[in-house]
Amino acid sequence: MVWGLLFHPQSPETEAIASLLADVLVLSAAVFSLVAALVVASLVRPRRARGEPEGRRILDAKAARARIEAIWTGVTVIVLGGLFLLTVRAMAKIDAPLEPGTAPDLVVTGHQWWWEAQYPNGVVTTGEIHIPVGHRLLVRIDSADVIHDFWVPQLARKMDAVPGLDGYIWLEANKPGRYQGMCSEFCGAQHAWMHFVIIADSEADFSSWLKSQAQPATQPSGSAASEGARLFLEKKCGDCHAIAGTAAKGGNGPDLTHVLSREFLGAGIARNTPETLALWLTNPQAAKPGNRMPDPHLSDAEASALAAYLGTLK
Ligand code: CUA
Repeated sequence: MVWGLLFHPQSPETEAIASLLADVLVLSAAVFSLVAALVVASLVRPRRARGEPEGRRILDAKAARARIEAIWTGVTVIVLGGLFLLTVRAMAKIDAPLEPGTAPDLVVTGHQWWWEAQYPNGVVTTGEIHIPVGHRLLVRIDSADVIHDFWVPQLARKMDAVPGLDGYIWLEANKPGRYQGMCSEFCGAQHAWMHFVIIADSEADFSSWLKSQAQPATQPSGSAASEGARLFLEKKCGDCHAIAGTAAKGGNGPDLTHVLSREFLGAGIARNTPETLALWLTNPQAAKPGNRMPDPHLSDAEASALAAYLGTLK
């Protein structure tokens, strides 16, 4: 229907949200029309015939007022009760259980300003979260610093990422595709650049993706890449970034084990190309002002060696 074309819900949860919105709008339109009609009717209603005794009119008016008040109260209770039932029904479809200790299928953590996803098998990814199509995943939303808000409009309700407080949502997609997500709570200068994408894969594609992401980083081959790998550790990049299979184990910045497999850098700020990667390395603050990466003070040769190394991490 028109509603679906407008909002494109692509999961049972967002379909429930869209249909709740439709129901509320229809009900509100009915109430508005009724009130508007009564106002117009009261304006154009012919006055009582002359000659009726004054006392009788006042008595009539009192009785009528009491009746009208009773009817209005009853109608309001029925309308609000209906809205309450519709809302409870939608919430039952949308909300994930809140029992503490439930093992989630995915843990998503908001950082200033990027999103990290951890899978139960240890795979960690940044900005691009793959899910198997048609499976309802329980996702725990967490924050590493300030309050963020995880939102994929087509797939799920919003959920605040509050430090020290776990939030749970269902994440599911009806059909394969890419679904844009963003941070929906102002969280600092680059709040607007906290994009991510949910990639709903067929079951086979998902498991092969997960398998490839679980592999340790490819060993650098060639002199530039090997030099880059050495520089990565020498410049202390590994204090903030992890690369599986190497001594780099930092957890403050994005995991770079498979950085080349990602389409975007800086949570959507640029496409991941050798040029943008080199630009990021030489001046991260110009690429995304305010982000947590300090300038590593690289010479051009060092930057291109590092970019060559990162360019091997498929
Ligand atoms: Cu994170 Cu806004």
